[in-house]
Amino acid sequence: MTAAPTPPRSVTVRAPAKVNLELRVGALRPDGYHDLATVFQAVSLYDEVSVARWDEWQVVPGGTYADRVPTGTGNLAIRAAKLISEQWDIDDVLSIHIDKDIPVAGGMAGGSADAAAALLACDHLWGLGLERDELAELAAELGSDVPFPLAGGNAMGSGRGEQLAPVLARGTFHWVFAISDTGLSTPEVYRELDRLRSADGGDARDPAHSADVSSELMAALRRGDAQALGKALHNDLDEAAFSLRPELRVLRDAGVEFGALGGLVSGSGPTVAFLTESHEASLDLSVSLAASDLCRDIRRARGPVHGAHVVSGSRPD
Ligand code: C5P
Repeated sequence: MTAAPTPPRSVTVRAPAKVNLELRVGALRPDGYHDLATVFQAVSLYDEVSVARWDEWQVVPGGTYADRVPTGTGNLAIRAAKLISEQWDIDDVLSIHIDKDIPVAGGMAGGSADAAAALLACDHLWGLGLERDELAELAAELGSDVPFPLAGGNAMGSGRGEQLAPVLARGTFHWVFAISDTGLSTPEVYRELDRLRSADGGDARDPAHSADVSSELMAALRRGDAQALGKALHNDLDEAAFSLRPELRVLRDAGVEFGALGGLVSGSGPTVAFLTESHEASLDLSVSLAASDLCRDIRRARGPVHGAHVVSGSRPD
């Protein structure tokens, strides 16, 4: 007879950041969300989330952006772990260590990546063996952007962004991200878009605000054509983010002038994402942006990369 496997003492999961290659925002819905059509790409900036049994719920931040991680009960990783423990009636209390390398409140789904990582880590810690679609359903309860870091790669998002469909793509793309010191609040940026749309007598709830992604972008991805993808990048939230932070427009224009194939606000910002031709071009652009003094924190990454995955699960000695 074989002994039952010993449960791991702690589990570490790595989850990627995202950039929206295209983000089309439709009408404001009665539930306060907007219909979206978006294309996500997972990029090689990662958070690592470790969960271990403990005597009180706690978040322990580490890594590049440790000082900006919220440690209270509103932290999405804790909410993710509690969601699983409540649904499966598990009494364990966890310590959650977050090694934070994805900018906080930057429009790169850093909090969502932590929630996705915590779901997968708890699934392993507690030996639940959840299917990917069960995890995706839990993820959607936590936030519109949480299902994508579980999936990774390239995907089209619809609904409020949480309904995913795979997207055919070829090749690797090279990105430069210009990161701001102070984050932007996602609801605030959507509210600003509604305000801009309502100015001049418009209506943010008008169904004419259609949410469809462009065939040019899909074709560029299928061909692995960075030049064409650079031209097709589009974010309806750009203008709202520029309205709240005019310096972001200056930054975007400077990056394009320095040779980026295209630039846009990442998600709801304030990170500005630039697509470049090659790894070398991304190095050159980073140097130019740093010298311009428009931005101090510059990160490079490639995409697409895989979604959340277990990197270690230590078992009792
Ligand atoms: O789903 P999540 O909690 O990440 O959304 C945060 C906020 O962003 C929402 O409360 C809403 O104000 C805004 N949002 C939206 N439409 C979406 C996604 C988010 O208006 N599709």
